Amino acid sequence: MVNGGCIIMAMFWNKRKNSMLVQLLLLSSALLSCINNGNAGVTSPFVRNEWPSVDIPLENEIFAVPKGYNAPQQVHITQGDYDGKAVIISWVTADEPGSNKVQYGLSEGKYDFTAEGTMQNYTFYNYKSGYIHQCLIDDLQYDTKYYYEIGDGDFSRRFWFRTPPQVDPDAPYKFGIIGDLGQTYNSLSTIEHCLETGAQTILFVGDLSYADRYEYHDVGVRWDSWGRFVERSAAYQPWIWSAGNHEIEYFPYMGEVIPFRNYLHRYPTPYPASKSSSPLWYAVRRASAHIIVLSSYSPFVKYTPQWTWLQEELKRVDREKTPWLIVLMHAPIYNSNDAHFMEGESMRVVFESWFCRYKVDIVFAGHVHAYERSYRISNIRYNNASSGASNPVPDKSAPVYITVGDGGNQEGLALRFRDPQPDYSAFREASYGHSTLEIKNRTHALYHWNRNDDGKRVQTDSFMLHNQYWGDNRRRRKLNKNRLHSVLDNLPLSLIL
Ligand SMILES: [Fe+2]
Repeated sequence: MVNGGCIIMAMFWNKRKNSMLVQLLLLSSALLSCINNGNAGVTSPFVRNEWPSVDIPLENEIFAVPKGYNAPQQVHITQGDYDGKAVIISWVTADEPGSNKVQYGLSEGKYDFTAEGTMQNYTFYNYKSGYIHQCLIDDLQYDTKYYYEIGDGDFSRRFWFRTPPQVDPDAPYKFGIIGDLGQTYNSLSTIEHCLETGAQTILFVGDLSYADRYEYHDVGVRWDSWGRFVERSAAYQPWIWSAGNHEIEYFPYMGEVIPFRNYLHRYPTPYPASKSSSPLWYAVRRASAHIIVLSSYSPFVKYTPQWTWLQEELKRVDREKTPWLIVLMHAPIYNSNDAHFMEGESMRVVFESWFCRYKVDIVFAGHVHAYERSYRISNIRYNNASSGASNPVPDKSAPVYITVGDGGNQEGLALRFRDPQPDYSAFREASYGHSTLEIKNRTHALYHWNRNDDGKRVQTDSFMLHNQYWGDNRRRRKLNKNRLHSVLDNLPLSLIL
């Protein structure tokens, strides 16, 4: 790992343009910087806020209601089972209940299969939702493009999706990671850039619509506009949902006091498939990844349902089948921004030792409207009652923690990072963007953070992630075992016996 001071030193030695005196000054300043910051990483001075932090007006065509009487809108899909052979398709019809059917097949316009879903609607204060349809289609083939049609008659609509490859340790797969998206022009930039990367599935780390920034009837209206906004991606690529604080929507002044009501009515998750008792925490396996979704805003201390479920789910993770273990949550447990500082601390205390014991590869979070990546560190020796130890230390078993709450919502960027940069923080920048994780095989995955840079997608923080389970030691052991097998295979049977 290279820190900011060392970069300055490298530039200094390469360019050799300055006078000896200036060089000496730079060298001493670089050395001082190394001493002051310890192992701390880079604080990028770059800030990119392309557009004002205001929601796109409702009359903008980006939110246009599809033409035609009762035409399906707000179409989105998510994984429908544990292993990726099922999809849940959701959509809204505004005028009347309409059909719950999904017709689907292997070629466009030729639908050999039909599935029947369910329909519900609800009220939120004086807002009355449209008719919300949800339909599970299962027994799909792996790694196959399906075409589907929803709605009735002349105003039906057609989409497609691709199922993941069968769960396999070496299955390559590309995830996009987005958080705190909202519905501004910055949000639109993020979605468009993510579409450009060819990400096959989106891991969403909470805070969807920011509709809770509105009041009364407009809360529901902005949930609807957001559904139409993300359809350009979410009707084709499954989004794996997790909930943030903006989904809580505890509004006693409106008489709305049941948390997550809008979110839960609109964004189903396949939680029963992972033996969870709540749609807010669950797990799916997809290609070579095991993805665990946690809820920062549900009880998680010892003996609570979420704690008990996670304890069991971690035992079910089979790294021989799914080498990549990824955790999603909303409030980051390592964050050196002034915004939301220490808010993830209680979850860190409860779950961090498990993340290290089970060698989680990467933990993605949102909440803070900036980008930050940690080194592999842990603070599991924390015990202020006896030892007094309370600082994170380098730990090869620990995950990399990545905060990607920089989707572009109306609250704007979190511009104030704490100074000095803590030793655990490898790279941080207050700009909008999203991440991609491109799994190559069981040992390597290529990671990028993509900044929204005046309409362009710029890969800004990139590294090759080495799998925590199939790392160097295990690979060596495996190779040695294979070599031993081949030696044994060539030995005369009498010698082996
Ligand atoms: Fe948040």
